[in-house]
Amino acid sequence: MAATFDVGRGIFTLTTRNTTYQMMADSFGYLLHLYYGAKTAGFTDWGLTFADRGFSGSPYELGRDRTYSLDALPQEFPTQGTGDYRSPMLVVRDSEGTCGADLHYVSHEITEGKYSLPGLPAVYANPGEEAQTLAITLRNERLGLNVRLLYGVIPDKDIITRSVIVSNNGEKAFTVQKLYSSCLDFTHGDFDLITFYGRHAFERQYQRHNLKHGIFSVGSRRGMSSHQYSPFIILAGHDATESHGRCWGMHFVYSGGFCAEAEHDQYRQTRLIMGLAQDKFSYELEPGEEITGPEVIMTFSSEGLGKLSHSFHACIRENICRGKFRDSPRPVILNTWEALYFDFDGRKILDVAESAKALGVDMLVLDDGWFMNRNDDFRALGDWKADEAKLGCTLSELVNKVKSIGLDFGIWVEPEMISEDSELYRGHRDWAMVIPGEKPVLARNQLVLDLSRRDVREYIIQSMRGILNEGVTYLKWDYNRSIAELYSHEGSNGKLAYKYILGLYEILERITSEYPGVLIEGCAGGGGRFDAGMLYYTPQIWCSDNTDAVDRLSIHYGTSFGFPMSAVAAHVSTCPNHQTGRITPLSTRYTVSMTGAFGYELDPLKLTDDERREISRQIQQYKVDREIITSGLYYRLSRPEDINRYCAWEYVSQDGSKALINAVIPQNHGNMPVIYITPRGLTHGAFYRDIQTGETYPADALMDSGFPLDMPKSDCESFTLRLERV
Ligand code: GLA
Repeated sequence: MAATFDVGRGIFTLTTRNTTYQMMADSFGYLLHLYYGAKTAGFTDWGLTFADRGFSGSPYELGRDRTYSLDALPQEFPTQGTGDYRSPMLVVRDSEGTCGADLHYVSHEITEGKYSLPGLPAVYANPGEEAQTLAITLRNERLGLNVRLLYGVIPDKDIITRSVIVSNNGEKAFTVQKLYSSCLDFTHGDFDLITFYGRHAFERQYQRHNLKHGIFSVGSRRGMSSHQYSPFIILAGHDATESHGRCWGMHFVYSGGFCAEAEHDQYRQTRLIMGLAQDKFSYELEPGEEITGPEVIMTFSSEGLGKLSHSFHACIRENICRGKFRDSPRPVILNTWEALYFDFDGRKILDVAESAKALGVDMLVLDDGWFMNRNDDFRALGDWKADEAKLGCTLSELVNKVKSIGLDFGIWVEPEMISEDSELYRGHRDWAMVIPGEKPVLARNQLVLDLSRRDVREYIIQSMRGILNEGVTYLKWDYNRSIAELYSHEGSNGKLAYKYILGLYEILERITSEYPGVLIEGCAGGGGRFDAGMLYYTPQIWCSDNTDAVDRLSIHYGTSFGFPMSAVAAHVSTCPNHQTGRITPLSTRYTVSMTGAFGYELDPLKLTDDERREISRQIQQYKVDREIITSGLYYRLSRPEDINRYCAWEYVSQDGSKALINAVIPQNHGNMPVIYITPRGLTHGAFYRDIQTGETYPADALMDSGFPLDMPKSDCESFTLRLERV
C-alpha cells in the first residue's frame, strides 16, 4: 500500500518507489510533519524535539508544560493564530475582522486511485497504474471551518501531490485571505533554493542561492504564472549536483498568480510553502461554500537534480498532458509570425504553404493578422471572423486549399483578450475587466475579458467553434498581457483572480473534449504561462518569443528542470535574428530547436537553394529523432556556470539503447581548450557506436572522462552525436 496509517502512533506513511513521506496526528490533534526523504522502513517520530522556547506560544491544553510549541515543530498545514509565527498556509478572517483558526485532526480516509479536482487540472493515474489518495479532515469549531487535505501518491513515478479544500460548515460567512496548497517543514539543515526568473523573451533563467535567515519568495501578481518567475521551485542540499545529493521540488498545477516562500527561521528550521497569490485575493465563503487550493506536485531525489527532473518530466508527460497528442508525434510546423508578421494575403499564404510542403513540413500555422481589421496590434481582438478580403476567400476555403497542398492547417488566436477598437467592445464594454471611474491599463493596446462570466465564456467557446468547424486542426492559444485590474461587473472581485483561471480551464476543457483531434499550443507572449496547469490542456507551449539560438540555450536549460522537452515548442527562424540581431549557423538553429516540439518560423520563399536542401535534411532527421526527443530521458550535461562556454544536453531512450547528444559552443576563442562532454544514462559495461562514424566507445569511459568535441571554427557552432548500444 502506498498510503498507510498506524493507529497506535497516529502516523501516516506515503511510500513511493524511492521515497517515504511521514506525518503524525499527535495527541493534541495537530498534524506534524515527520519526514520526506529516501525510502525507509519504520517510523520517524524520533526526529521531533521538545524544548521550552521563549516567545513561542504553547497550546492551552499543555497547562504549565512549555516544551511544546507549534513555532518550533514541523507541520503539515500551518495556520495563523496558533503560536506558530512562521508564514502560514491559511489565513481566515471572520465577519468581525478577527483572524486565526486553530485546526485539529478529525478523521482520514485512504482510497484507491488518485483524486481529481473539479474545475482544476490535476495529476491523473493511467489505467493500470498504481495510485492512492489520502484525505485528512481538520476542523476549527468556532468558525465551523473544515479543511480537507488531499495527498495523492503515484508510487512508480516517485510523485506525491497535495491539494486542499477549505469549506464553511458553520453558520456565518468568513473570508479566506491566504490559501497555500503545500508545505515542507525541515527541522534542521542548510539549503540552496533554486528558482527560475526571467522576462518577456528571456524566460526561466536558473538561479541558485544559499538560503539565509529570513523569507525569500517568488511569485506572480499578474494573473498569469508569468515570464518573471516560474511556479516551480527546488530546495537542494548545498552539495546537490545533477547526479548527486538530496533535493525536493514543488510544481504548482495552476496558471494564475502564485507565491512560493522559503523561510529559514530562528531555530535554523526551513519552511517551503506554495499556493495562490495573496495579492487582491479575498475569498468570502458563505455557509455551505468551499474553495479548492490548486494542486502542487512534489518529488524528492537522493540522486541529484537529474533524477528530480526525470520524475517531474515523466509525471507531466504521462500524468498531466492529455489527449491524442500526449503520445502521438507532433507535426513539424511552419509558423508565419516571424516570416510575415501582419503583411500577407491569401496568395502569399498559399505560396508559403507550397514551399513549406516541398521542405517536408507537416502543418502551416497562420499566426496573427488573419481576422477582420487586424493589420496591426492596435485593434480587433475579440472579433474572430476571417478577413476574407485579405485572404481572398473564406477561412474554410483557405484551409481546404492548404490541405490540398498536403499540409494541415493551424491558426493563431488570443481568445481571452478584447481590443477597445473591436465590434465586441462596442457591443459589450462590460465584458472587459476595467475599474469604473479609473482609466484602464493598456498593455499591447488590449484589455482582458472577464472569464468569470458565463456569457463571456460561452462567447469564446462559440467563437472557437466557428474556427475549428472550418477544418482547423491546431490552435496557437496566445495571451499577450498581464492582468492589472480585477473588476467584474458581476461583483466578487476578491474572488476574481481565481475565478478567471477556473473560467479559462472550463473553456479549455470544453474545447479539448469537443475537439479531441485538435492540438492546442499554449502561448503567452512566448513562455509567460508555461506551467503544469496549461499543460493539462495544451501538451506543448511556445517557450519564448526569443528564437535566437544562443539565448534559447539558457531558456531551455532552465525550463528543463521542471518540464519535459515534449512540452517545449521551438522554431528555427531567420538570421539576423529578429530579437537579438545575432547571426548563427542554420545547423545550430536546428540543433537548438529540435529540442522538443519543432518547427520553422521564417519565409521559405526567401531561402537559398543550399538552405532549402539543409532544411529538408533537418526535417527528415528530426522525424528520425522525434521519438527519443519526446519520450527519452533528458540529461543536462553542462553546469550553469558552463553554459556560456558550452551547453550540452542528451536524450537517452528509456531502454538505454540509444543516445542523442547535442552541444553548442556560443563563442569561439583563440587557441581554445578542448571541451569534453560527459554523457550520462548509458548502460554500464556496454559499448556504444557513433552512428555517423561507426567508431565504438566503452560506455563507462565515456561517462567517466567524457568525449572531446571538435575544435570550433567560428562562433555558435553545434555538435551532435548519435550513439547506439552494440
Ligand atoms: C505573441 C506570440 C508570438 C506571436 C504574436 C502575434 O507575441 O508570442 O509568437 O504569435 O503574439 O501577435
